[in-house]
Amino acid sequence: MCGIFAYKGNKTNGAEIVINGLKKLEYRGYDSWGVAYKCDNEVKIYKEVGKIGEFDFNRSKEKLGFDKKCTLAVGHSRWATHGGVTVANAHPHASQDKTIAIVHNGIIENYLELKENLVKKGYEFKSETDTEVIAQLIQEYKDLGLVEGIKKALSMLEGRYAILVISDSDDLLIAARRGSPLIVGAGKDEHFIASDIPAFLEYTRNVMYLDDNQMVIIDNKATFIDLETDREIKKRIVEIDWDTESAEKGEFPHFMIKEISEQKDTISRAINQDPEKIMEIVEEINNAFGTYLIGCGTAGKVCLAGSYLFARIAEKHVNTAFGSEFPSLQQFITDKSLIIAVSQSGETADTLEAIEVAKKKGAKVLSIINVEGSTMDRISDFSIHIKAGPEKAVASTKATTAQMAILTLLAYGCAGKLDEGKFLLLDAASNINDMLNPRYEAHLHKLAEKIKDFESMYVIGKGLNYPMALEAAIKLQEVSYIHAEGFAGGELKHGPIALISEGTPCIVLVGKDETENEIISNAMEIKSRGGYIIGVAPDNHELFDYWIKVPESGNASPIVNIIPIQILAYQLAVLRQNNPDMPRNLAKSVTVK
Ligand code: M6R
Repeated sequence: MCGIFAYKGNKTNGAEIVINGLKKLEYRGYDSWGVAYKCDNEVKIYKEVGKIGEFDFNRSKEKLGFDKKCTLAVGHSRWATHGGVTVANAHPHASQDKTIAIVHNGIIENYLELKENLVKKGYEFKSETDTEVIAQLIQEYKDLGLVEGIKKALSMLEGRYAILVISDSDDLLIAARRGSPLIVGAGKDEHFIASDIPAFLEYTRNVMYLDDNQMVIIDNKATFIDLETDREIKKRIVEIDWDTESAEKGEFPHFMIKEISEQKDTISRAINQDPEKIMEIVEEINNAFGTYLIGCGTAGKVCLAGSYLFARIAEKHVNTAFGSEFPSLQQFITDKSLIIAVSQSGETADTLEAIEVAKKKGAKVLSIINVEGSTMDRISDFSIHIKAGPEKAVASTKATTAQMAILTLLAYGCAGKLDEGKFLLLDAASNINDMLNPRYEAHLHKLAEKIKDFESMYVIGKGLNYPMALEAAIKLQEVSYIHAEGFAGGELKHGPIALISEGTPCIVLVGKDETENEIISNAMEIKSRGGYIIGVAPDNHELFDYWIKVPESGNASPIVNIIPIQILAYQLAVLRQNNPDMPRNLAKSVTVK
């Protein structure tokens, strides 16, 4: 949540570098943005409401002073938490004496109490944010020097933060983190600090990860400090193997459709894992006494699908909980339990909190994540990287199916049938390759045209396809803004069927297994009440008003069935003139609780 980015080096267009880099982090928050840059020993701030992606740097650089020589700059693209979307609440925030500028990602829980004390001391606040409190606190302790003043201010904060600070008197870029991601990019005679790697990928692939309760001070080198012991620490440089193209849209109009199309390759890439490592993890699952799958949003739906997959394939009971709910279920966790955390970003605050809770009880943690080096990756006992490449559209697509593929593989591993699982998934991957063609997309576009003006739609599934009905609904909601809900087919008659009226679009996800007849009966119940039945199924059925053919894929059917829904959601978003990459009110990585 919120993208932050800073530059310090020997290039003199620091403000431009920061603005361009922030555009690549816009998926993290896009309601307002701002930059603070140092020129002529003065810190200047510029901020705006709106998307940074729409800002034309070249047209405005002279007017706004961005063309002045500047080798130190910080910027922020905001997803509002404290205070509405206004220029005053946009970051950076300055101290009262305007000598210090700060950007922040996270939430300071005790900011009201700190603010009250500062107000008593005569500080005036210009925004409603928690962040401004940090800037004022640093000013309050300025006599200690910038670095010590920041340390003192940080010691008073409760909550989570990633902050970047610059001041007019020191030629330093200072950053610190507790709970929100920060990565340092090390170039030749220059450093970058960002909440995600794509911001600086065009300049360097050499990165150092800042961990919780650590600070980095950049002059012409990067010095890392452990804030708990106040000692210097050494960091390892990690080379990132992402290419710049994978983080760009290329010829596609949006990241979402690019990422959907990449599923031609991502599933086979995901399952291309070291079999020994997979079997080591399988052993952990088989030996654990109590296993919990934990994730949020789409990853949470993937976890629920995981419970079904482990039950069906390996006859294994694996619990599922949303990250935010897990703390209320922790009583059952012991040092023999295993937590399987599923996350694209590896930075979701609710999932991280669940992991912390489980670790305190001595449980082991396996993470299934996309972003290597993310917090989850580093705090887990084991990690499986799904290798989907950067996923930038807010709506998760390729990461979802890659996570599903890994859970399917693990379930087959637990059943002692790893190779069978691999073949099944490779077959599904090749079927997806065949599906993703312009004719298929045109067929879905025709459907999108038909249903684009409806206010509500429903999705039903049964067995393995029930979690996918929930996932289909979230996909439709977040980019089309049509009210969509997913149900277990059998649950309809217990209430939701009252929502069906003449013409209501209802998507039915059909698996060619023992659930097929029942889900078709459920669809009939909807049809009898006037519902418009959209069947996602290997075979056509007279009851379908619109048939979306999917290849027969056995236990991989949830992976295959979600693909047309992703395309449909994308097309509905475009037809309804929504930006599918940056849906309203959302952000890609939810790093606040
Ligand atoms: O990065 P994570 O996978 O942990 O993110 C979890 C959810 O925030 C995420 O899946 C969200 O629900 C997506 N926008 C859904 O498409």
